Amino acid sequence: MNILLTGGAGYIGSHAAVALAQAGHQVVLFDNFCNSRHEVAQRLQTIIGHPLVVIEADIRQTDLLEKALRDHAIDAVVHFAGLKAVGESVAEPIGYYANNVQGTISLLQAMHNTHVKTLVFSSSATVYGVPHYLPLDESHPTSATNPYGRTKLHIEEMLGDVAQSDPTWRIACLRYFNPVGAHDSGLIGEEPNGPPNNLMPYLARVASGQLPQLNIFGNDYDTPDGTGVRDYIHVMDLAAGHLAALDFLTTHPHGRYVFNLGTGQGYSVMEMLRAFETVVGKPLPFHIAPRRAGDVASCYANPGFAASQLNWRAKLDLKAMCESTWQFQQRAARG
Ligand code: NAD
Ligand code: WQD
Repeated sequence: MNILLTGGAGYIGSHAAVALAQAGHQVVLFDNFCNSRHEVAQRLQTIIGHPLVVIEADIRQTDLLEKALRDHAIDAVVHFAGLKAVGESVAEPIGYYANNVQGTISLLQAMHNTHVKTLVFSSSATVYGVPHYLPLDESHPTSATNPYGRTKLHIEEMLGDVAQSDPTWRIACLRYFNPVGAHDSGLIGEEPNGPPNNLMPYLARVASGQLPQLNIFGNDYDTPDGTGVRDYIHVMDLAAGHLAALDFLTTHPHGRYVFNLGTGQGYSVMEMLRAFETVVGKPLPFHIAPRRAGDVASCYANPGFAASQLNWRAKLDLKAMCESTWQFQQRAARG
């Protein structure tokens, strides 16, 4: 298939590009590079072994999206493009709605106008809000605790309406849990601008000496060691989940489907720190800080629906997540 990846130069999109290209698909990246580096395209070519098309544009430029869909005879779109920083979304909600929601409307218009009706959307476990029970399955009630999460909920709802209105659409919303790790080449990985918000890139910068210590946000949660528990999933497992979702959409009836992409296994912040220390081979400085506003004690997936429907399961363990993060940090990350 010819597959357009919006946000394809970003962290998850670039890893999915590798998985899709290596499975024999033609991938076209469509990215405005607002949160990614131009070097990613070159590095992807090194990994994949052949050039790939990169279009530098904003998804709100509907005419350019339409042109890309037509020029490259696109069969399906994987829609990664979006802003994702929770704190920033609280400070700048208009920008988040404009980029994520308006951007998705623009994409849907372009797809509608060019009769490309197969879409995989990057959703998030954040749509479950505060967990009522664990593990989280797809029928857990949804809610938003911040504007970023609300953009994901709005988009999922829009996609439901679109699928309902026209029986030729096939849409999968993939609710990612906590993606971490990097491709084993060490050439691509997660590279946030400025101090990382997320645990793994923060740990990597503490290990490399760019940050003095890890601040552990609370050790008085109702968890085995008091620190927050999350479902960390290796980004290459996540990438494989996109391949599985596209295979599913092309072999199943129309509609909008929702799948959790997680491992089902929760690890605490302290367990993550210890696992990273083992890989790095030295103790890492940390400090117990107050809880971070908006955090929950535990969040992890029931991955059973994706396993039964997509024939997909996460395979890579915590050691692989830490090793690949550290390899990328040493080989190719900024700084
Ligand atoms: P990322 O920031 O690394 O990648 C997003 C890419 O989209 C970037 O390359 C950015 O330049 C591009 N982009 C943003 N707005 C754009 C626009 N208007 N037009 C064109 N390109 C644009 O983020 P990521 O971690 O790879 O996340 C990808 C998707 O997955 C996002 O939609 C995010 O909300 C979702 N998601 C991420 C996580 C996570 O923890 N990383 C978890 C759940 C869901
Ligand atoms: C993980 C754990 C922190 C940093 C976020 C978004 C979510 C989704 C994934 C997009 C928590 C603790 C962290 C640090 C710490 N993104 N922590 N010190 O909050 O589960 O999810 O990313 O959809 O929407 O909210 O991930 O990596 O920030 O935190 O102690 O410096 O690590 O408190 O327990 P989170 P995270």
